[in-house]
Amino acid sequence: MIKKGIILAGGIGTRMSPLTKAVNKQLLPIYDKPLIFYPLSILMLAKIKDILIIVNKGQLGQYKKLLPNGKNLGLKITYLEQDKPRGLPDAFVIGKKFIGKDNVAMILGDNFFYGQNFTQKLLKCAKLSSGAKVLLHNVQRPELYGVAKIDKKNKIIKIVEKPKKFVSNYAVTGLYFFDNEVIDYAKKLKPSKRGEVEIIDLLNNYKRGNRLSADFIGRGGAWLDTGSIEDFYKTTAFVQAIEDRQGLKIACIEEIAYLNKWIGLKEIKKSIKFYGNCNYSNYLKKLIN
Ligand code: TTP
Repeated sequence: MIKKGIILAGGIGTRMSPLTKAVNKQLLPIYDKPLIFYPLSILMLAKIKDILIIVNKGQLGQYKKLLPNGKNLGLKITYLEQDKPRGLPDAFVIGKKFIGKDNVAMILGDNFFYGQNFTQKLLKCAKLSSGAKVLLHNVQRPELYGVAKIDKKNKIIKIVEKPKKFVSNYAVTGLYFFDNEVIDYAKKLKPSKRGEVEIIDLLNNYKRGNRLSADFIGRGGAWLDTGSIEDFYKTTAFVQAIEDRQGLKIACIEEIAYLNKWIGLKEIKKSIKFYGNCNYSNYLKKLIN
């Protein structure tokens, strides 16, 4: 089982400026909690407890105020800084020591996933022992994403970044599972024309070695990329609709830690005190009563 995970939570957030001028995108609210809670909850649902959060240089203080060290969640959280957005595979160069000799999952700090049986899917993906695995999802506008073409056996036969000519409707989402070779592959990548190392190039290295596999979120699941203001508010509306209707929260990290039996009542009470008098705390109070 993959036991280590990285959240890539730096980036400039150009498309969301001026909101992102003073505050990092991942700390902005998706409805009732900061965006970072959502990718963090996904790693926790995959039973990953050892988590590296990569943040922008100078923004560590903000993150530590919110998620000091993970103790209250039964997690080990490590922080590292990225001095400039060199591209997604840079995570494996920055995180080399953290990864050590292990396999690793990576999730983009601005990606939102939700759906029936998604936890089972995550646990299955986290079983990866060699190669790399991506999660694909159907999208209406594939030209905006990294896209994969698959054969009848669901094997990836082609993977292209933002294709101008139609390739398929399967976008490569921002959750990836890699074996330890990812560090070597990432180190050897050269920046593309836009000056960043590209995740598609990294995945193509695995594909060339016939070591890239895919799974699907399926049409009952949601994947939302919160990179633009429109998408950000669509995600907020989605979370609000589900939470208000069900009375159950999406990405309540304390609830997930509690259900995973990583923490008990004592830690939840500490969190209630930490958050103070708010709806989120009221939800935690209900949970432990
Ligand atoms: P992007 O959406 O590609 O970049 P961004 O968040 O800076 O936004 P914009 O395009 O509007 O400028 O990044 C996807 C996620 O990965 C996002 O959560 C930020 C993070 N990221 C890093 O932490 N480091 C990087 O080098 C890059 C490219 C992205």
